[in-house]
Amino acid sequence: MSAHDTPIPMVARRSGPLKGEAQIPGDKSISHRALILGALSVGETHVTGLLEGQDVLDTASAMRAFGATVTQLGQGEWRVQGVGVGGFAEPAQVIDCGNSGTGVRLIMGAMATTPISATFTGDASLNKRPMARITDPLALFGARAVGRQGGRLPMTLVGAAEPVPVRYTLPMPSAQVKSAVLLAGLNAPGETVVIEPEATRDHTERMLRGFGAEVTVEETDEGRVITLKGQPELLGQRVAVPRDPSSAAFPVCAALLVPGSEITVPGVSRNPTRDGLYVTLLEMGADIVFENPRIEGGEPVADLRVRSSPGLQGVETPPERAASMIDEFPVLSVVAALAGGTTVMRGVKELRVKESDRIDAMARGLEACGVRIEEDADTLIVHGMASVPGGATVESRLDHRIAMAFLVLGLVSERPVTVDDGGPIATSFPLFEPLMAGLGAAISRANG
Ligand code: S3P
Repeated sequence: MSAHDTPIPMVARRSGPLKGEAQIPGDKSISHRALILGALSVGETHVTGLLEGQDVLDTASAMRAFGATVTQLGQGEWRVQGVGVGGFAEPAQVIDCGNSGTGVRLIMGAMATTPISATFTGDASLNKRPMARITDPLALFGARAVGRQGGRLPMTLVGAAEPVPVRYTLPMPSAQVKSAVLLAGLNAPGETVVIEPEATRDHTERMLRGFGAEVTVEETDEGRVITLKGQPELLGQRVAVPRDPSSAAFPVCAALLVPGSEITVPGVSRNPTRDGLYVTLLEMGADIVFENPRIEGGEPVADLRVRSSPGLQGVETPPERAASMIDEFPVLSVVAALAGGTTVMRGVKELRVKESDRIDAMARGLEACGVRIEEDADTLIVHGMASVPGGATVESRLDHRIAMAFLVLGLVSERPVTVDDGGPIATSFPLFEPLMAGLGAAISRANG
Protein backbone atom coordinates (compact mmCIF):
# COMPACT_ATOMS: atom_id res chain seq x y z
CA MET A 1 0.00 0.00 0.00
CA SER A 2 1.24 3.53 -0.66
CA ALA A 3 2.38 5.36 2.45
CA HIS A 4 0.25 8.40 1.69
CA ASP A 5 -1.89 9.99 -0.96
CA THR A 6 -1.70 13.74 -0.33
CA PRO A 7 1.70 15.46 -0.33
CA ILE A 8 2.85 16.68 3.08
CA PRO A 9 5.10 19.74 2.58
CA MET A 10 7.60 20.18 5.42
CA VAL A 11 9.97 22.97 6.35
CA ALA A 12 13.18 23.12 8.38
CA ARG A 13 14.52 26.35 9.86
CA ARG A 14 17.82 27.37 11.41
CA SER A 15 17.84 25.84 14.91
CA GLY A 16 19.53 26.29 18.26
CA PRO A 17 21.76 23.52 19.68
CA LEU A 18 20.40 19.97 19.47
CA LYS A 19 20.47 18.23 22.85
CA GLY A 20 19.30 14.96 24.34
CA GLU A 21 18.98 11.30 23.48
CA ALA A 22 17.79 10.05 20.09
CA GLN A 23 15.96 6.70 20.30
CA ILE A 24 16.34 5.43 16.75
CA PRO A 25 13.82 2.87 15.46
CA GLY A 26 14.66 -0.67 14.38
CA ASP A 27 16.80 -1.47 11.37
CA LYS A 28 14.75 -1.63 8.19
CA SER A 29 16.85 -4.29 6.46
CA ILE A 30 16.81 -6.57 9.49
CA SER A 31 13.08 -6.00 10.10
CA HIS A 32 12.16 -7.17 6.56
CA ARG A 33 14.37 -10.23 6.95
CA ALA A 34 12.98 -11.14 10.38
CA LEU A 35 9.43 -11.26 8.97
CA ILE A 36 10.40 -13.17 5.83
CA LEU A 37 12.59 -15.74 7.58
CA GLY A 38 9.97 -16.08 10.31
CA ALA A 39 7.41 -16.86 7.60
CA LEU A 40 9.75 -19.46 6.06
CA SER A 41 10.34 -21.20 9.41
CA VAL A 42 8.54 -23.88 11.30
CA GLY A 43 7.04 -22.65 14.58
CA GLU A 44 6.99 -19.24 16.13
CA THR A 45 9.31 -16.29 15.62
CA HIS A 46 9.18 -13.53 18.20
CA VAL A 47 10.55 -10.17 17.07
CA THR A 48 11.28 -7.17 19.28
CA GLY A 49 12.33 -3.73 18.06
CA LEU A 50 10.71 -4.27 14.67
CA LEU A 51 10.60 -1.11 12.57
CA GLU A 52 6.93 -0.24 12.14
CA GLY A 53 7.54 1.86 9.03
CA GLN A 54 5.25 1.43 6.05
CA ASP A 55 7.85 -0.57 4.08
CA VAL A 56 8.03 -3.22 6.77
CA LEU A 57 4.25 -3.20 7.37
CA ASP A 58 3.82 -3.94 3.65
CA THR A 59 6.16 -6.93 4.01
CA ALA A 60 4.12 -8.11 7.02
CA SER A 61 0.94 -7.98 4.89
CA ALA A 62 2.71 -9.86 2.10
CA MET A 63 3.78 -12.63 4.47
CA ARG A 64 0.14 -13.01 5.55
CA ALA A 65 -0.87 -13.27 1.89
CA PHE A 66 1.62 -16.14 1.46
CA GLY A 67 0.07 -18.01 4.39
CA ALA A 68 2.04 -16.98 7.50
CA THR A 69 0.26 -15.65 10.59
CA VAL A 70 1.77 -12.31 11.53
CA THR A 71 0.54 -10.60 14.70
CA GLN A 72 1.51 -7.37 16.42
CA LEU A 73 1.79 -8.02 20.17
CA GLY A 74 2.92 -4.57 21.30
CA GLN A 75 5.02 -1.65 20.14
CA GLY A 76 7.75 -3.18 17.96
CA GLU A 77 6.85 -6.63 19.27
CA TRP A 78 5.60 -9.10 16.68
CA ARG A 79 4.90 -12.83 16.34
CA VAL A 80 5.20 -14.79 13.11
CA GLN A 81 3.83 -18.32 12.77
CA GLY A 82 5.75 -19.63 9.81
CA VAL A 83 4.80 -22.11 7.09
CA GLY A 84 8.28 -23.61 6.65
CA VAL A 85 10.67 -23.63 3.66
CA GLY A 86 8.64 -24.39 0.51
CA GLY A 87 5.37 -23.86 2.41
CA PHE A 88 4.24 -20.56 0.86
CA ALA A 89 0.61 -20.64 -0.37
CA GLU A 90 -0.42 -18.86 -3.56
CA PRO A 91 -1.71 -15.39 -2.65
CA ALA A 92 -5.26 -14.61 -3.70
CA GLN A 93 -4.53 -10.91 -4.25
CA VAL A 94 -1.88 -8.75 -5.86
CA ILE A 95 1.05 -8.16 -3.49
CA ASP A 96 1.56 -4.40 -3.04
CA CYS A 97 5.04 -3.65 -1.70
CA GLY A 98 4.44 0.11 -1.65
CA ASN A 99 7.75 1.99 -1.81
CA SER A 100 10.00 -0.91 -0.87
CA GLY A 101 12.59 -2.35 -3.25
CA THR A 102 13.95 -4.50 -0.44
CA GLY A 103 10.49 -5.89 0.33
CA VAL A 104 9.57 -6.83 -3.22
CA ARG A 105 12.97 -8.19 -4.21
CA LEU A 106 13.42 -10.37 -1.13
CA ILE A 107 9.86 -11.67 -1.31
CA MET A 108 10.20 -12.52 -5.00
CA GLY A 109 13.34 -14.48 -4.10
CA ALA A 110 11.58 -16.22 -1.23
CA MET A 111 8.75 -17.51 -3.47
CA ALA A 112 10.75 -18.21 -6.66
CA THR A 113 11.40 -21.87 -5.94
CA THR A 114 7.86 -22.75 -4.81
CA PRO A 115 5.30 -23.85 -7.47
CA ILE A 116 2.94 -20.91 -7.03
CA SER A 117 2.54 -17.62 -8.84
CA ALA A 118 2.13 -14.13 -7.48
CA THR A 119 1.69 -10.67 -8.95
CA PHE A 120 3.64 -7.77 -7.44
CA THR A 121 3.12 -4.03 -7.64
CA GLY A 122 4.23 -0.90 -5.82
CA ASP A 123 3.93 2.88 -5.77
CA ALA A 124 5.02 5.19 -8.59
CA SER A 125 8.63 5.05 -7.38
CA LEU A 126 8.87 1.27 -7.02
CA ASN A 127 7.12 0.64 -10.34
CA LYS A 128 9.95 2.52 -12.09
CA ARG A 129 12.78 0.51 -10.53
CA PRO A 130 14.68 -2.26 -12.36
CA MET A 131 13.60 -5.81 -11.55
CA ALA A 132 15.67 -7.68 -14.17
CA ARG A 133 18.51 -7.71 -11.63
CA ILE A 134 16.27 -10.10 -9.63
CA THR A 135 14.41 -11.95 -12.35
CA ASP A 136 17.61 -12.83 -14.28
CA PRO A 137 19.11 -14.90 -11.45
CA LEU A 138 15.68 -16.25 -10.40
CA ALA A 139 15.23 -17.56 -13.97
CA LEU A 140 18.34 -19.72 -13.41
CA PHE A 141 16.41 -21.55 -10.66
CA GLY A 142 13.57 -22.14 -13.15
CA ALA A 143 11.24 -19.25 -12.19
CA ARG A 144 9.51 -17.18 -14.90
CA ALA A 145 8.62 -13.49 -14.70
CA VAL A 146 6.37 -11.39 -16.89
CA GLY A 147 6.34 -7.69 -16.15
CA ARG A 148 6.09 -4.39 -17.95
CA GLN A 149 8.59 -3.25 -20.59
CA GLY A 150 12.10 -2.93 -19.22
CA GLY A 151 11.42 -5.47 -16.47
CA ARG A 152 9.29 -3.18 -14.31
CA LEU A 153 6.44 -3.86 -11.88
CA PRO A 154 3.61 -4.77 -11.94
CA MET A 155 5.02 -8.20 -12.57
CA THR A 156 3.91 -11.80 -12.17
CA LEU A 157 6.42 -14.36 -10.99
CA VAL A 158 5.78 -18.07 -11.56
CA GLY A 159 7.86 -20.09 -9.13
CA ALA A 160 9.89 -23.10 -10.31
CA ALA A 161 8.16 -26.46 -9.85
CA GLU A 162 11.47 -28.33 -9.96
CA PRO A 163 14.08 -25.80 -8.89
CA VAL A 164 17.78 -26.36 -9.49
CA PRO A 165 20.52 -24.81 -7.38
CA VAL A 166 22.39 -21.84 -8.79
CA ARG A 167 25.92 -20.41 -8.78
CA TYR A 168 25.68 -16.67 -9.38
CA THR A 169 28.19 -13.83 -9.45
CA LEU A 170 26.57 -10.49 -8.59
CA PRO A 171 26.88 -8.08 -11.54
CA MET A 172 26.32 -5.12 -9.21
CA PRO A 173 27.00 -4.68 -5.47
CA SER A 174 23.46 -5.32 -4.21
CA ALA A 175 22.44 -6.97 -0.97
CA GLN A 176 18.89 -7.18 -2.33
CA VAL A 177 20.00 -9.30 -5.27
CA LYS A 178 22.28 -11.43 -3.08
CA SER A 179 19.45 -11.96 -0.62
CA ALA A 180 16.89 -12.82 -3.32
CA VAL A 181 19.21 -15.54 -4.65
CA LEU A 182 19.92 -16.94 -1.18
CA LEU A 183 16.23 -16.98 -0.24
CA ALA A 184 15.41 -18.74 -3.53
CA GLY A 185 18.21 -21.22 -2.79
CA LEU A 186 16.44 -22.25 0.42
CA ASN A 187 13.94 -24.41 -1.47
CA ALA A 188 16.34 -25.70 -4.14
CA PRO A 189 18.14 -29.01 -3.60
CA GLY A 190 21.95 -28.94 -3.32
CA GLU A 191 24.13 -25.90 -2.81
CA THR A 192 23.35 -22.39 -4.01
CA VAL A 193 26.42 -20.17 -4.28
CA VAL A 194 26.51 -16.38 -4.53
CA ILE A 195 29.79 -14.64 -5.28
CA GLU A 196 29.99 -10.97 -4.43
CA PRO A 197 33.06 -9.16 -5.79
CA GLU A 198 32.32 -6.28 -3.37
CA ALA A 199 30.95 -6.98 0.10
CA THR A 200 27.39 -5.76 0.74
CA ARG A 201 25.32 -5.79 3.94
CA ASP A 202 25.39 -9.32 5.34
CA HIS A 203 22.20 -9.47 7.42
CA THR A 204 20.69 -12.27 5.32
CA GLU A 205 23.68 -14.56 5.82
CA ARG A 206 23.78 -13.80 9.55
CA MET A 207 20.07 -14.34 10.04
CA LEU A 208 19.86 -17.49 7.89
CA ARG A 209 22.46 -19.03 10.20
CA GLY A 210 20.51 -17.84 13.22
CA PHE A 211 17.40 -19.67 11.91
CA GLY A 212 19.39 -22.89 11.42
CA ALA A 213 20.53 -22.87 7.78
CA GLU A 214 24.04 -23.97 6.83
CA VAL A 215 25.76 -20.95 5.30
CA THR A 216 29.48 -20.63 4.76
CA VAL A 217 31.36 -17.51 3.68
CA GLU A 218 34.82 -17.64 2.13
CA GLU A 219 36.97 -14.67 1.17
CA THR A 220 38.62 -15.51 -2.17
CA ASP A 221 40.29 -13.66 -5.09
CA GLU A 222 36.86 -13.57 -6.79
CA GLY A 223 35.32 -11.92 -3.71
CA ARG A 224 33.06 -13.25 -0.94
CA VAL A 225 31.78 -16.70 -1.83
CA ILE A 226 28.57 -17.49 0.07
CA THR A 227 27.35 -21.08 0.01
CA LEU A 228 23.92 -22.12 1.25
CA LYS A 229 22.88 -25.74 1.70
CA GLY A 230 19.39 -26.04 0.26
CA GLN A 231 16.21 -27.34 1.87
CA PRO A 232 17.09 -26.82 5.53
CA GLU A 233 14.42 -26.87 8.19
CA LEU A 234 14.37 -23.34 9.52
CA LEU A 235 13.14 -23.05 13.08
CA GLY A 236 11.36 -20.01 14.52
CA GLN A 237 13.63 -17.77 16.62
CA ARG A 238 13.68 -14.77 18.91
CA VAL A 239 15.02 -11.78 16.99
CA ALA A 240 16.00 -8.50 18.69
CA VAL A 241 16.29 -5.94 15.89
CA PRO A 242 19.10 -3.42 16.49
CA ARG A 243 18.57 0.28 15.78
CA ASP A 244 19.06 1.44 12.21
CA PRO A 245 22.39 3.17 11.45
CA SER A 246 20.86 4.61 8.26
CA SER A 247 18.12 6.36 10.25
CA ALA A 248 20.57 7.40 12.99
CA ALA A 249 22.56 9.18 10.27
CA PHE A 250 20.03 12.05 10.14
CA PRO A 251 20.13 13.21 13.78
CA VAL A 252 23.86 12.40 13.93
CA CYS A 253 24.66 14.61 10.92
CA ALA A 254 22.28 17.31 12.17
CA ALA A 255 24.09 17.38 15.54
CA LEU A 256 27.48 17.61 13.82
CA LEU A 257 26.33 20.63 11.82
CA VAL A 258 24.19 22.62 14.30
CA PRO A 259 26.54 24.70 16.51
CA GLY A 260 26.66 23.80 20.21
CA SER A 261 24.89 20.43 19.81
CA GLU A 262 25.54 17.34 21.87
CA ILE A 263 23.37 14.24 21.53
CA THR A 264 23.56 10.58 22.43
CA VAL A 265 22.24 7.83 20.19
CA PRO A 266 22.05 4.51 22.04
CA GLY A 267 22.35 0.99 20.60
CA VAL A 268 23.11 1.72 16.93
CA SER A 269 24.25 -1.17 14.73
CA ARG A 270 27.97 -0.97 13.92
CA ASN A 271 27.93 -3.84 11.44
CA PRO A 272 31.05 -3.22 9.28
CA THR A 273 28.97 -3.74 6.11
CA ARG A 274 26.86 -0.71 7.17
CA ASP A 275 29.27 1.74 8.80
CA GLY A 276 30.85 3.56 5.82
CA LEU A 277 29.19 6.86 6.74
CA TYR A 278 30.64 6.76 10.24
CA VAL A 279 34.14 5.95 8.90
CA THR A 280 33.80 8.89 6.50
CA LEU A 281 32.53 11.33 9.12
CA LEU A 282 35.49 10.51 11.37
CA GLU A 283 37.84 11.15 8.43
CA MET A 284 36.16 14.53 7.96
CA GLY A 285 36.93 15.39 11.58
CA ALA A 286 33.58 14.60 13.22
CA ASP A 287 33.42 14.41 17.01
CA ILE A 288 31.69 11.04 17.43
CA VAL A 289 32.57 8.68 20.26
CA PHE A 290 31.41 5.04 20.17
CA GLU A 291 30.69 3.96 23.75
CA ASN A 292 29.81 0.55 25.25
CA PRO A 293 30.51 -1.59 22.16
CA ARG A 294 28.61 -4.89 22.49
CA ILE A 295 26.70 -7.57 20.57
CA GLU A 296 22.88 -7.27 20.50
CA GLY A 297 20.63 -9.50 18.39
CA GLY A 298 23.71 -10.97 16.69
CA GLU A 299 24.91 -7.54 15.49
CA PRO A 300 27.70 -5.34 16.88
CA VAL A 301 26.18 -2.17 18.42
CA ALA A 302 27.46 0.90 20.29
CA ASP A 303 26.11 4.04 21.96
CA LEU A 304 27.06 7.15 20.00
CA ARG A 305 27.98 10.48 21.60
CA VAL A 306 27.94 13.20 18.96
CA ARG A 307 29.09 16.81 19.36
CA SER A 308 28.87 19.60 16.83
CA SER A 309 32.06 19.73 14.79
CA PRO A 310 32.74 23.12 13.22
CA GLY A 311 35.97 22.20 11.41
CA LEU A 312 34.72 19.37 9.14
CA GLN A 313 36.82 18.91 5.99
CA GLY A 314 35.79 17.44 2.65
CA VAL A 315 37.13 13.97 1.76
CA GLU A 316 37.06 11.51 -1.10
CA THR A 317 35.00 8.34 -0.50
CA PRO A 318 36.49 5.42 -2.45
CA PRO A 319 34.30 3.19 -4.66
CA GLU A 320 34.95 0.14 -2.49
CA ARG A 321 33.31 1.92 0.47
CA ALA A 322 30.14 2.83 -1.43
CA ALA A 323 28.14 -0.32 -0.61
CA SER A 324 28.69 0.12 3.14
CA MET A 325 27.11 3.60 3.06
CA ILE A 326 24.87 3.40 0.02
CA ASP A 327 21.81 4.84 1.80
CA GLU A 328 23.81 7.59 3.53
CA PHE A 329 25.07 9.56 0.51
CA PRO A 330 22.12 11.99 0.56
CA VAL A 331 22.86 13.13 4.11
CA LEU A 332 26.62 12.99 3.53
CA SER A 333 26.09 15.42 0.62
CA VAL A 334 24.47 17.82 3.08
CA VAL A 335 27.40 17.52 5.50
CA ALA A 336 29.75 18.01 2.53
CA ALA A 337 27.96 21.24 1.58
CA LEU A 338 29.05 22.72 4.93
CA ALA A 339 32.54 21.18 5.14
CA GLY A 340 35.76 22.91 4.09
CA GLY A 341 36.89 22.09 0.54
CA THR A 342 35.41 19.49 -1.75
CA THR A 343 33.87 16.07 -1.10
CA VAL A 344 34.14 13.54 -3.91
CA MET A 345 31.86 10.49 -3.75
CA ARG A 346 33.06 7.83 -6.16
CA GLY A 347 31.51 4.57 -7.34
CA VAL A 348 27.97 5.67 -6.51
CA LYS A 349 26.04 4.76 -9.69
CA GLU A 350 23.72 2.43 -7.73
CA LEU A 351 22.25 5.64 -6.27
CA ARG A 352 20.60 6.21 -9.64
CA VAL A 353 18.22 3.25 -9.12
CA LYS A 354 17.11 3.83 -5.52
CA GLU A 355 13.68 5.16 -4.47
CA SER A 356 14.69 8.07 -6.73
CA ASP A 357 17.79 8.85 -8.81
CA ARG A 358 19.52 10.08 -5.68
CA ILE A 359 22.46 11.69 -7.49
CA ASP A 360 20.08 13.81 -9.54
CA ALA A 361 17.74 14.52 -6.60
CA MET A 362 20.60 15.71 -4.36
CA ALA A 363 22.32 17.63 -7.14
CA ARG A 364 19.20 19.59 -8.16
CA GLY A 365 18.13 20.23 -4.56
CA LEU A 366 21.58 21.37 -3.45
CA GLU A 367 21.88 23.67 -6.46
CA ALA A 368 18.50 25.17 -5.62
CA CYS A 369 19.85 25.88 -2.11
CA GLY A 370 22.93 27.61 -3.53
CA VAL A 371 25.50 24.78 -3.33
CA ARG A 372 27.86 24.05 -6.25
CA ILE A 373 27.95 20.41 -7.32
CA GLU A 374 29.38 18.31 -10.16
CA GLU A 375 28.20 14.89 -11.22
CA ASP A 376 28.78 12.15 -13.73
CA ALA A 377 27.18 8.73 -14.10
CA ASP A 378 29.09 7.28 -11.13
CA THR A 379 30.30 10.29 -9.11
CA LEU A 380 28.89 13.15 -7.04
CA ILE A 381 31.12 16.09 -6.08
CA VAL A 382 29.97 18.71 -3.56
CA HIS A 383 31.84 21.98 -3.08
CA GLY A 384 31.59 22.99 0.55
CA MET A 385 30.83 26.55 1.69
CA ALA A 386 30.93 28.39 5.01
CA SER A 387 27.19 29.07 4.90
CA VAL A 388 24.45 27.65 2.65
CA PRO A 389 21.80 30.15 1.45
CA GLY A 390 18.86 27.66 1.41
CA GLY A 391 15.51 29.35 0.82
CA ALA A 392 14.33 26.77 -1.73
CA THR A 393 11.60 24.19 -2.07
CA VAL A 394 13.13 20.87 -3.14
CA GLU A 395 11.46 17.76 -4.51
CA SER A 396 11.60 14.64 -2.35
CA ARG A 397 10.57 12.45 -5.33
CA LEU A 398 8.82 9.79 -3.20
CA ASP A 399 12.18 9.23 -1.48
CA HIS A 400 12.32 9.29 2.32
CA ARG A 401 16.08 9.82 2.51
CA ILE A 402 16.01 12.79 0.12
CA ALA A 403 13.29 14.39 2.27
CA MET A 404 15.16 13.87 5.54
CA ALA A 405 18.52 15.00 4.09
CA PHE A 406 17.10 18.35 2.97
CA LEU A 407 15.32 18.87 6.28
CA VAL A 408 18.72 18.47 7.97
CA LEU A 409 20.14 21.09 5.59
CA GLY A 410 17.35 23.51 6.54
CA LEU A 411 18.46 23.40 10.21
CA VAL A 412 21.73 25.14 9.30
CA SER A 413 20.99 27.11 6.11
CA GLU A 414 20.49 30.89 6.12
CA ARG A 415 16.88 30.67 4.98
CA PRO A 416 14.45 27.75 5.55
CA VAL A 417 14.46 24.71 3.29
CA THR A 418 11.09 23.25 2.31
CA VAL A 419 10.56 19.74 0.94
CA ASP A 420 7.50 19.38 -1.27
CA ASP A 421 6.48 16.10 0.34
CA GLY A 422 7.69 14.67 3.65
CA GLY A 423 5.13 11.83 3.48
CA PRO A 424 7.68 9.23 2.31
CA ILE A 425 9.57 9.60 5.61
CA ALA A 426 6.94 7.26 7.11
CA THR A 427 8.34 4.38 5.03
CA SER A 428 11.48 4.12 7.18
CA PHE A 429 11.34 6.60 10.09
CA PRO A 430 7.72 7.30 11.12
CA LEU A 431 8.75 9.15 14.29
CA PHE A 432 11.34 11.37 12.60
CA GLU A 433 9.38 14.58 13.26
CA PRO A 434 8.82 14.13 17.03
CA LEU A 435 12.33 12.71 17.49
CA MET A 436 13.96 15.71 15.81
CA ALA A 437 11.62 18.13 17.62
CA GLY A 438 12.58 16.48 20.94
CA LEU A 439 16.24 17.30 20.21
CA GLY A 440 15.30 20.92 19.48
CA ALA A 441 15.19 20.88 15.67
CA ALA A 442 12.80 23.35 14.03
CA ILE A 443 11.10 21.00 11.57
CA SER A 444 7.38 21.32 10.95
CA ARG A 445 4.60 20.80 8.45
CA ALA A 446 4.87 23.68 5.99
CA ASN A 447 1.16 24.49 6.22
CA GLY A 448 0.88 23.86 9.95
C1 S3P B 1 19.04 -3.13 1.30
C2 S3P B 1 20.02 -3.06 0.36
C3 S3P B 1 20.41 -1.83 -0.34
C4 S3P B 1 19.84 -0.59 0.35
C5 S3P B 1 18.42 -0.76 0.78
C6 S3P B 1 18.29 -1.93 1.73
C7 S3P B 1 18.74 -4.42 1.93
O1 S3P B 1 19.89 -1.89 -1.65
O2 S3P B 1 19.95 0.53 -0.51
O3 S3P B 1 17.94 0.40 1.41
O4 S3P B 1 18.03 -4.45 2.97
O5 S3P B 1 19.20 -5.44 1.41
P1 S3P B 1 20.71 -2.61 -2.84
O6 S3P B 1 20.86 -4.03 -2.49
O7 S3P B 1 19.88 -2.43 -4.07
O8 S3P B 1 22.01 -1.87 -2.90
